[in-house]
Formats: sequence, C-alpha cells, structure tokens
Amino acid sequence: MPGAGNGCRARGTAPLGGKPRWGLQFARFNHRGRTRYLRVNSDPQEDTGETHAPVPFYVVAGTPAYGALIDADRIVTLHVASTVCRGRDVPVRDRTTDRRWQATPPGDAVEAVIAGGAGMRILVFAGPTALDAVRRYNLFFGGGTLPPRWGLGFWHRTPTRFTADQVVEEAREYRRRGVPCDVIGLEPGWHSAAYPCTFEWDPERFPAPAAFVAALAAEGFRVNLWEHPWVAPRAPLAAEVEPLAGSHTVWGGLAPDITLPAAREAIAAQHDRVHLAAGVAGYKLDECDGSELTRSSWMFPAHATFPSGRDGEELRQVYGLAFQRLTEELFRRRDRRTYGLVRASGPAAAPLPYVLYTDLYDHRRYVRALCGASVSGLLFCPEVRSARDGEDWLRRVQAVCFAPLAMLDAWSSGTKPWSFPEVADAVRQAIALRMRLLPYLYTAFARYHLDGTPPVRAMALCGDGAAPLALADDQFLVGEDLLVAPVFAGERERTVLLPAGTWHDFQTGEAFAGGGEVLVRTEMERIPVFARAGAVIPLMPDLAHAPHAGDTVPLEVLHFGQCPGRFALYDDDGETYAYERGAWRWLDFRVELALDGSRTGTADPRCAEVGPGLAYGPVTWRWMG
Ligand code: GAL
Repeated sequence: MPGAGNGCRARGTAPLGGKPRWGLQFARFNHRGRTRYLRVNSDPQEDTGETHAPVPFYVVAGTPAYGALIDADRIVTLHVASTVCRGRDVPVRDRTTDRRWQATPPGDAVEAVIAGGAGMRILVFAGPTALDAVRRYNLFFGGGTLPPRWGLGFWHRTPTRFTADQVVEEAREYRRRGVPCDVIGLEPGWHSAAYPCTFEWDPERFPAPAAFVAALAAEGFRVNLWEHPWVAPRAPLAAEVEPLAGSHTVWGGLAPDITLPAAREAIAAQHDRVHLAAGVAGYKLDECDGSELTRSSWMFPAHATFPSGRDGEELRQVYGLAFQRLTEELFRRRDRRTYGLVRASGPAAAPLPYVLYTDLYDHRRYVRALCGASVSGLLFCPEVRSARDGEDWLRRVQAVCFAPLAMLDAWSSGTKPWSFPEVADAVRQAIALRMRLLPYLYTAFARYHLDGTPPVRAMALCGDGAAPLALADDQFLVGEDLLVAPVFAGERERTVLLPAGTWHDFQTGEAFAGGGEVLVRTEMERIPVFARAGAVIPLMPDLAHAPHAGDTVPLEVLHFGQCPGRFALYDDDGETYAYERGAWRWLDFRVELALDGSRTGTADPRCAEVGPGLAYGPVTWRWMG
C-alpha cells in the first residue's frame, strides 16, 4: 500500500468525540489523549503502541461513529488528541497556583506523522455505528477470511524436536481420551535445520513426510508447520534467494525481499513441492516481527537495504502481511483453503487466513488483545501454553475455546489438555463445547467474509453505543448472539456488562435484564456465557474432529427466551474456494411462539439433503429460559 499523498503530516479537523483504538494492543483499548508509535515489534512495548500488529486504523465511537485509516507502509506516529495546535482555545492554568493544571490539555484532533517524508493516504469509513465503520473497513479490503471448517476445531502444537512417531503418538492420545482435536502443529525440529530455516524435512526425525501426514489424516488430523522466513545458507533454497535478499542477515540466514515476485515465487515453488505436495495444511509464520531496538533481535536493521529499493524500516512494517499473502496464494493455487498463525500483521489483513499470537502470556492482556484486534480487521489467539495451577489452566482453556483459533501450544512446556488431572474433565468439556458450536462459529465467519462483521468482537461493536460497553475489554461477543465473559484464576465472581434487552445464561437459560451490569458468581466448570433473548443456536455433537463434506451431522438447536427467533446457518464444502464460485447455501431455522407461550421450531427442509457441504439431521430442539 504505497502512500499516495505528498505531505508527511496530516491533521484531522473533525472534533474527536469518541474513543480511538489501534490494532493489536495489550495495554489499553482507548488511546485518546496518548501518542502512539505504530511500529511492528515482537516485544510489545508497555503502552507505546508498538506491538506485533499495530494498525493505523481508528474508530471514533461517537454519534455517528466513523473510522479512519492512515494508509502508509512506514511507521506512523499518531497523536491522539495529545497535542494542541496554536490557535486552539485551551485553558491556560498557572501550575504554582492552580491544581488543575495540565502540561498538555486534551486536544481535539488526531495528528499523523510519518518519518522520512513518505506520503500517506487517509481513508475514512462511515458509520453510523462503530460496527458499521469496522464492517466497511473489512469489506473495503475484500471482507474477512473464511477458514476451512477444520480450522475452527481444536489445535495442539507438539514440543520442539519431536519425531514423527512421537507426534503421531501424541495425536492418538487425544483420540484415546476422547478430546476433540483437528490440527497438530509442528514446532522447530521438523526442518533439517531451523534458526535459520532450511524448509526441508529432517531426514532422521521425519524420514517419510507424506506418509506421516497421511497417517495423521487417516485419524482426522491436519498438519501445520512452524517456520520463520530466514533462509539458512545451507538450504537448497538459498542459491535462488541469494540475489533477492537484503543487505543484512537474521540469525545468520538470508532475509528474502518478499515484496519481489521472483523471491515469492522461489519460496512458493519450494514450499509447494516439499510441504503442500506432502499434504501439509498450513503454517505458523513466526518471528517476522522483530525490531533491533528491543531484546528480540530477530530482524534486519532499519537501515538494511533490499533489491526492491525498500529499506529495512519499511520492509519490517509490511513483512508479516507479505508473508501471509505469499502462503495464502500457495494454497489458493491448489484450491485448498488454509488457516494458520502469524506473529506480525497490519492494515488490510481481514481477508488473510491468519490469526495473531504472542509470547506475552498474560491472561488479562490476552483477552484485551482479543477484543482490540476485532476493531482493526485482526484475529487474535490467546493460546494456552502452561499454567500456575489447575485453575489457571482451566480458565485459560475456557477462554481460548471461544477465540477465532483455539490452541494449546506445548512447544516448550509439553503440556496436554489433561496435564492438570483435577480439572481434566472441565477442560474436556470446554473443548467439547468448542466443537459443538462449530456450525455457529462457521456461520459467524461467513458473516465476517460477506458483511465484514468480526466473528469474535469487542463489546464496542455490539451496536449499542453505551459508554461502559464501548470501553469493556474483558468480555466479548461471539457471532450474532453469544456474549462470553472469561474468568481469570482466583476470581470467585465477576461483573458482566449486558447490552440492552434480555439475556439468558447459556447453560441454565436463566433470564437477566440487559442494559447494565450483573454480578455473576463463577463456577469452576464453566465461564459465564449469555445468549440474547430469541437466539437460535445450532449445536453439533462433540465429534473427534470437524465433519467432512458429504457427512450427515445431527443438530441440537437451542432457543432462548419467550420471543420468536431465527438463525440462518451457513454451509459450504468447508475445504475449497468453491464458495467463491457460488457453491454455498443458507439454511433457515425459525422459532414461533403460540399464544399459550409454547414454542415451535422449524428447520429448513433442505437440511436433510447433502448440500455443497454437510447434511443436517435429525434436528432436535431444546427450549431454554
Ligand atoms: C517463538 C514462538 C513460540 C514458539 C517458539 C519456537 O518465537 O513465539 O510460539 O514457536 O518460537 O522456537
């Protein structure tokens, strides 16, 4: 996205009435009154704006709300009502006599500055609600990603240096214990060398890659590969990449200039031949997010030069996006959808099939990041790695099971879902619920694709502009009708903000009046989840893995409250891009209310037929609340 303007400085003129937010941020949600330095950094800096995916897109949650994107490939510094230009009327107070003094009183505008004189383009996205502004932003870039159905199942990453046999054994343990799992992720150790990477299989640990992938596929698992972009000098790929790489190395590896088509093609051809041909389903794109000024030095410096003419600073800002596009294109060529993880991203990322993660591992910040990401066309995975104790483990698993990607990353801990026996049953239940919700989640992603609505989103995007909701960063919405309030270890109760209307406890059906706060006593077995009155939620059985096109899946459909309801269930083959060519369908589920209050559910008669994807049946109804 080259900047198109002439100037390097822009000042908004509209009064800044609401609460701006920028990309993936862990420290806060509302950035008004602060200066943000939006540089990609693997080591998220405490409240400066630097993270894995800073996005210069902000939403002003006023009436009407709107969004604005500062479109530039370079680091953008944003002064969010934190500066005051001459000529503005601000109170001048004598600090020696007036306790209300402020060195910089709040301003009324956003100023965006780009170092080095590069241009910028400013795109404004109309509301009227904050959700509308975000939808328009996502749609402008092509709509949100629609993952393969299996991508929404549970993921497990095995420890580094595991052999093929150890991986298969670990995966089988999921089946033996009846814990659903769809994806097995390999960490460093599958390459013949990592740090930097050869991108070739290790002949001892993985002597027969295609047979290994096929053995897992036979039991319903897909394989995801960890990699970073730095090419080992001994890699067969090195000779081709050498003339297309930058002036500096990373971990001793070549840094390919992947903004060049020739570099992308060389990497794509090798990946296709060595990974996709063996049946690999996706990647975890790691360590494409460094900055030389912090402790993580896995990046070329800002002054590095590249064959495309870009310098290191610019390339660092776009590397994660370019890496995502390169790998998505690979799968698209084979008409196979992928879903994976990435450590760096930026603007215009909604259509890319990647979810962000971090090493930060603070549970509260994870949930805040999950909320904030949704306002900027990003998806975030609050992955589970380890825990202080069983309670902490359970609370983390319960939250991640409502995230855009639900994953246990055991790369260094070697943990399993059942590692804390005292909570193993509850952990299984949380993962099973994730699997049961799959048709609902898949539909939420279809909406992300078609109308830009983030599948998991901050309360600020609930359509109800009430101020406390706009600021809530410890609860979120999933799909159209579910509200999830994670619990953090040690909490015995928590408050939940409910938007206007009636809400029902997802488990018991108990009704709560919305439009305010409710205090909920927490239980170990589950975290508070509420369904909107009238919600119709289809649940499938907790199968070992996601169903395949052509399978018949029974549905239990829950309906909440004493009001009519409707749900349009999206379906397609769950694997290919055929949906882009029209091979999809919506199935209608309705609930009517008789005068005596009794409810009747009607499932779309086409349910029972195999569509482009699944057949659904038998359909049973459960009345809640
Ligand atoms: C880190 C990454 C971890 C894990 C590890 C393997 O950079 O965040 O999730 O993949 O590398 O070395």
